[in-house]
Amino acid sequence: DSQFMIAPSIIAGDMTNLENEIKRCVSGRADYIHLDVMDGRFVPTKTFDHNKIKELRSLTVIPFDSHLMINEPVKHVKDYIDAGSDIITVHAEVTDESSFGEIHDLLKQNQVGVGFAINPDTELPEWSYKFLSSLDQLIVMSVVPGKSGQKYIEETHTKMTRLNSVLKEHNFSGYIEADGGVSLENIGSVFADGARVFVGGGAIIGQQDVRTAIRDFRTEILK
Ligand code: DX5
Ligand code: ZN
Repeated sequence: DSQFMIAPSIIAGDMTNLENEIKRCVSGRADYIHLDVMDGRFVPTKTFDHNKIKELRSLTVIPFDSHLMINEPVKHVKDYIDAGSDIITVHAEVTDESSFGEIHDLLKQNQVGVGFAINPDTELPEWSYKFLSSLDQLIVMSVVPGKSGQKYIEETHTKMTRLNSVLKEHNFSGYIEADGGVSLENIGSVFADGARVFVGGGAIIGQQDVRTAIRDFRTEILK
């Protein structure tokens, strides 16, 4: 499958005017809008929560890709469904078979895409294998989560090779989303690794002209 999606991360922009960052994504023709929710506990930083997402929701029909970097996501996932997320991703480090099962079922019932994320130092836990065939998205973090503008961790390339065989074995049919340090320099190889959704913080929202930055990402992938 050579279909791919560009997902600008708005926290790389003006945090005091996220409405305007959404507008920049719309005029830039983003495929998804990546919303980095940070609670100041799972990661040291705090960004925004479901209330902000709800406010932003009326500005566009572009799918909202909510990336929950929060503790105990099972307690909060309903709020993010109600806020209008189209895909919700929770982290492996703060879920287990039982809580993820609960999250998975709730998302499916509400027709919200199910996402699972792993940090650079995290391998896919064995308990997650049985969910792989019904996941819509797997976020492979290529930076330590917490802020935008960090450098892509090169070991992610070899990790992707290992992951691809596990994913194939367990009939994963969702999209791999590459998150962290994706740039024009590495997007070609990240695509070759199997990623199909590309988050762009610094490399897209950090640019003056979002439309050109997104177009350059697409052109580089299609090379
Ligand atoms: C990292 C976030 C990323 C980040 C992306 O904690 O999950 O989505 O904002 O920003 P860049 O592309 O600048 O690394
Ligand atoms: Zn993210």
